[in-house]
Amino acid sequence: MANEIKTEVRDHIGIVRLNRPDKLNALNYVLMTQVIEALEQFDADSDIRCMLLTGDERAFAAGADINEMADASMIEMHHRNMFGRWVRIKNLHKPIVAAVSGYALGGGCELMMCCDIIIAAETARFGQPEINLGIIPGAGGTQRLTRAVGKAQAMDLILTGRMITAAEALAMGLISRVVPAEQWFDEALKVCRELCQKAPVALQLGKETVAKAFETTLTEGIEFEKKLFYMLFATDDQKEGMRAFQEKRQAIFAGR
Ligand code: CAA
Repeated sequence: MANEIKTEVRDHIGIVRLNRPDKLNALNYVLMTQVIEALEQFDADSDIRCMLLTGDERAFAAGADINEMADASMIEMHHRNMFGRWVRIKNLHKPIVAAVSGYALGGGCELMMCCDIIIAAETARFGQPEINLGIIPGAGGTQRLTRAVGKAQAMDLILTGRMITAAEALAMGLISRVVPAEQWFDEALKVCRELCQKAPVALQLGKETVAKAFETTLTEGIEFEKKLFYMLFATDDQKEGMRAFQEKRQAIFAGR
């Protein structure tokens, strides 16, 4: 099987880099299999505290691989169910930071939206251009984008297929931070290093609780948050965090 990604561990960060530079990291079946499996392995590794998902300078990913789908019939697409397994990314516990440079289009934008914190170069470009191919987004784009930016902006992006700049994406609430072009990877790594200093269980429950907001009513979400908040008082890290505050020192979290 071709190696469509590169993985690396730096300190406690599991880095997954899409690696089809000549195809702008278009997401073919093998690449997505490798991305999902690598993220799952990092998620299960107790030495890893967060993940960083990235592409290269020219593209995070320019979408699902069009050549892989162009001649497929409806029944073939149904049986391949190529996006069904993306739910495994949603089910990961540890935070995922996306470092985006260049294009994040179609499935690339959808993959980016599966991440928790999105750091983008000021030169990055985003969009859901599927309409230009005679299709609609199929890996969660109509749902995640709408929840991220609201109906008016989602309709505009999905029905016109237009590309937007990083500044527009930030203003819409699609991404977390915009950084100077040459700093996109280092800034994302810096965010990961910061996450590594936090209490790991609180990080994971924080992620789970925010994600819950997209799945539930306000009352149920607040109830869920309250239970997880109380649950954290069973961790050593809560005791350490509050004690460190009282003693005016930096907390050292052990992940228990
Ligand atoms: N699938 C397959 N190959 C792709 C690709 C994609 N999504 N995007 C780019 N490539 C390939 C190109 O075919 C080209 O390969 P060759 O050199 O072998 O011809 C190579 O990557 C470089 O691309 P370009 O020459 O087109 O680069 P450019 O700078 O001129 O244009 C671009 C860049 C505007 C992003 C253009 O490549 C483009 O429009 N790409 C397609 C974007 C798109 O429509 N994405 C949605 C895909 S469908 C989808 O994602 C469905 C879903 O919901 C999951």
